[in-house]
Amino acid sequence: MPLLDALARFNDAHPWSHNAHFHPWILRRLPGRFDRALDVGCGAGDLARLLAARATRVHGIDSDERIIGRARESTGPGLPVTFAVADALAYDEGSPYDVITCVAVLHHLPLTEALIRFRRQLAPGGTLVIVGLTREDTRVQTLLGLASVPLNLITGWVRNRGRRAPRPVAMTAQTRPADVPYTEFVREARRVLPGVRLRRRLFWRHTLVWKKVRGDVDPGRLGTTQG
Ligand SMILES: C[S@@+](CC[C@H](N)C(=O)[O-])C[C@H]1O[C@@H](n2cnc3c(N)ncnc32)[C@H](O)[C@@H]1O
Repeated sequence: MPLLDALARFNDAHPWSHNAHFHPWILRRLPGRFDRALDVGCGAGDLARLLAARATRVHGIDSDERIIGRARESTGPGLPVTFAVADALAYDEGSPYDVITCVAVLHHLPLTEALIRFRRQLAPGGTLVIVGLTREDTRVQTLLGLASVPLNLITGWVRNRGRRAPRPVAMTAQTRPADVPYTEFVREARRVLPGVRLRRRLFWRHTLVWKKVRGDVDPGRLGTTQG
């Protein structure tokens, strides 16, 4: 479609990270200080480095060796951050995390399995924050998507001061289209994470915040509805 091609060309010339746009929002959802944090699918490590200002220790994992290399290169030696090439569904350090974040990654993973895993990996009282992508299947999402088009152009123009710019390193991480519809995501998130807070957002994203109560039961018997 000519309009979509023109938008893609504009975005290439004036790139900005829709994911990093949510970083301040994510930080506002978290306690002032916390102990251990895990950023799943950390890409170039921008969020992991931000979390490190508040955490005793942050671990960023990503299945892509190249992007983990970029994350390590971009991280100064003084920060309490480590990175590892690992699969989100196989990775297990043994100890639970006080904070788990996952930005634009959930749609790369089997949904139910990933949510169950995050619930298990979280320490009692811990916080899970997800910024995700789903396939549009509600009118609200379509409207937010349409409103995002001009806002995206304005933001790209303003952030790059009207100049052409190279892609930020974070935007070289692997991407894929989202195929799970939003309504299915909501159903599974509510089933696996009781009391979860969900919102549809601008820039083709949604958010999820869940706090694990002390005495949370293991979700082992919930089962998975998809592979
Ligand atoms: C769209 S990028 C987002 C990166 C980063 N979170 C950000 O906000 O910039 C998705 C990332 O998920 C990673 N990823 C995909 N499948 C994964 C898996 N099974 N385990 C760990 N990381 C995965 C990709 O390598 C990629 O870096």
